[in-house]
Amino acid sequence: MFNMFDASISRNACGVDSLYEDGHQYDLQHADFDEDIDFYKKMAEEAERVLELACGTCRLGIPIGRGGSHYTGIDISQGMLAWACNKAQSLGLRIGLIRGDMRNFHLNEGYDLILLAFNSVCHLYTRQDFERCLGCVREHLEKEGRFVIDVFNPSLEILTRDPKERYPAGEYEDPYGKGKVIVTETNVYDRATQINWITWYYRLERSGEERKVRFGMRIYYPQELDALVNCCGFRIVAKYGDFDLRPFTSDSTKQIIVATAGA
Ligand SMILES: C[S@@+](CC[C@H](N)C(=O)[O-])C[C@H]1O[C@@H](n2cnc3c(N)ncnc32)[C@H](O)[C@@H]1O
Repeated sequence: MFNMFDASISRNACGVDSLYEDGHQYDLQHADFDEDIDFYKKMAEEAERVLELACGTCRLGIPIGRGGSHYTGIDISQGMLAWACNKAQSLGLRIGLIRGDMRNFHLNEGYDLILLAFNSVCHLYTRQDFERCLGCVREHLEKEGRFVIDVFNPSLEILTRDPKERYPAGEYEDPYGKGKVIVTETNVYDRATQINWITWYYRLERSGEERKVRFGMRIYYPQELDALVNCCGFRIVAKYGDFDLRPFTSDSTKQIIVATAGA
């Protein structure tokens, strides 16, 4: 059974609505990225109940649910959830899907594993957003439960790019038969708010038609992220630099934090 309901939602002004309106398109655009799936499947093997915040199209939720855990995903985007629901239904998979805001949810349930994966933390734009979200995580995490965040290790090279220059950001086949879509990006980094303002340009190769989407990504530096997680009442039990569990170092592309509640 699917459990789709609207929790309290407040719209944000960082472009997320238009970035995540089409789940099918999102899956095609990210089809090449699957290096995190085994890591999360393995984590979920030890958990009876898993909650994923900002679950999107359940790119992770479907393999986790198929592994036998009781999986629930929360996301703010109707378009992402509708596509997730579609995929789960076509597989006959029972998962919970909730339309809600990761900064404000109250489910009256406890979970052994709570995930905030694939850079979704970058949609927590302010310290208040971060604290509200982690406060909700604490409310829902079982005593021995684990909370996992994964986000890129900020690249100063990318943040200081020439804002007028376009860089390649991938390509995929349009799901509505319009041919190849070529994605390029520009970015402007605001050093006060630590928000990287990215514009993605989606160009249809055949017709030359182009649309653009502007969105913000809050940049979390390694020491800052650890401190924020601690300040919100969590203890970091591991920090990896990749999904193969190598330790986090200066050269790591990823920050993967595994935390428990309590000092
Ligand atoms: C990068 S996608 C990640 C999706 C999925 N976790 C994955 O691994 O593919 C970020 C997701 O965050 C969701 N999102 C952004 N702000 C949110 C909020 N305040 N509450 C819940 N979901 C949010 C978006 O709708 C989008 O689906």
